[in-house]
Amino acid sequence: MSVLVTGGLGYIGSHTCVELMNSGVDVVVLDNLYNCKKSSYDRIKALVGKDFKFYECDIRDREGMSKVFENEDIDSVIHFAGLKAVGESVQKPLEYFDNNVNGTLVLLDVMRQYGCKKIVFSSSATVYGMNNVSPLKEDMEVGGVTNPYGRTKYMIECILKDLYTSDNSWSICLLRYFNPIGAHKSGTMGEDPNGIPNNLMPFITQVAIGKREKLNVFGNDYATKDGTGIRDYIHVVDLALGHVKAVEKVRGEEGLFIYNLGTGVGYSVLDVVKAFEKASGVTIPYEICPRRAGDIAICYSDPHKALTELNWKAERGLEEMCEDSWRWQSQNPDGYPD
Ligand code: NAD
Ligand code: UFG
Repeated sequence: MSVLVTGGLGYIGSHTCVELMNSGVDVVVLDNLYNCKKSSYDRIKALVGKDFKFYECDIRDREGMSKVFENEDIDSVIHFAGLKAVGESVQKPLEYFDNNVNGTLVLLDVMRQYGCKKIVFSSSATVYGMNNVSPLKEDMEVGGVTNPYGRTKYMIECILKDLYTSDNSWSICLLRYFNPIGAHKSGTMGEDPNGIPNNLMPFITQVAIGKREKLNVFGNDYATKDGTGIRDYIHVVDLALGHVKAVEKVRGEEGLFIYNLGTGVGYSVLDVVKAFEKASGVTIPYEICPRRAGDIAICYSDPHKALTELNWKAERGLEEMCEDSWRWQSQNPDGYPD
């Protein structure tokens, strides 16, 4: 029995494949290579020391997806595949709804056709919207999302909840990630953004390596200790280990489960800059700029439900996240090879 990992060559997917295989779970990986390099496959393979199946396929390709289920013994799915750039989603809403929502509908329909009813879905803290106050808890109202990307996550959560209501023999786990950063300890796998990074950590590491002149800090007039935004940064390997637990859960039990994957601790933008400077020994020049549209002041998790029900908690602190991000960036200044 294998777990199908859609989007498995991307940032979070690749780290999750390593932890799954290290814990003895067989995987089949699927990706359309839209936002990753094929060499990510070789890096995963080198780390786990064994071969695994890879399908270059788009989740919207019903025929291609059916072939994967036809050929492989798949009992559950971890669904990472999706587009994730908030700003781009405002420019290209139709592409985002098609890829993320339509893609998920095709995946679910093919799963149903092959009697596979266990799925772990990559959701996001963004579904908590603008109106809830941190620490965010799973039973808070979701919605109130401000951009098309976030809306795709919210819509997919609604679809999965409706699916479970219609058929209680599904086992569905919605994982709401906070801010994944960091990289594999080996320095051979990490985040490899295309173009100008949208997110804080890859921007900082690109400043550190000399690809960008300075960091733009988006606002220092929030109601926080130093005026900059506060987020719950989580090491990508901790996040990956959360998926190992979530797969155990859906394999063991029918139901609809929702968990935050975060540390429960919030750090400001300037905290991250300082921690990175300490970990790398490199000074990060920055400039205070206007707020970024759509940002909120504070977002961090209440992570207790995942501890109680999945026996999972994040173990790696900010220092380790910065060290590992820097090791990846400094050893791979241009990311994965073509
Ligand atoms: P990523 O872009 O590195 O990985 C996603 C992978 O999916 C890529 O390899 C891409 O090529 C693939 N993909 C995209 N569309 C596809 C399609 N139609 N068919 C097949 N493959 C497709 O992103 P990531 O950071 O690893 O994120 C993984 C998931 O987690 C995404 O769904 C994302 O929305 C979600 N998420 C990410 C964050 C974050 O900050 N990184 C936060 C919350 C949620
Ligand atoms: N920031 C800067 N400068 C930058 C980039 C970010 O100051 O160049 C600040 C932001 O204003 C924010 C913090 O750093 O205060 C973190 O910003 P990110 O862009 O790294 O992350 P977000 O919290 O905005 O969003 C991320 C993902 C979303 C996801 C969300 C919750 O990009 O997809 O976490 O999981 F929904």
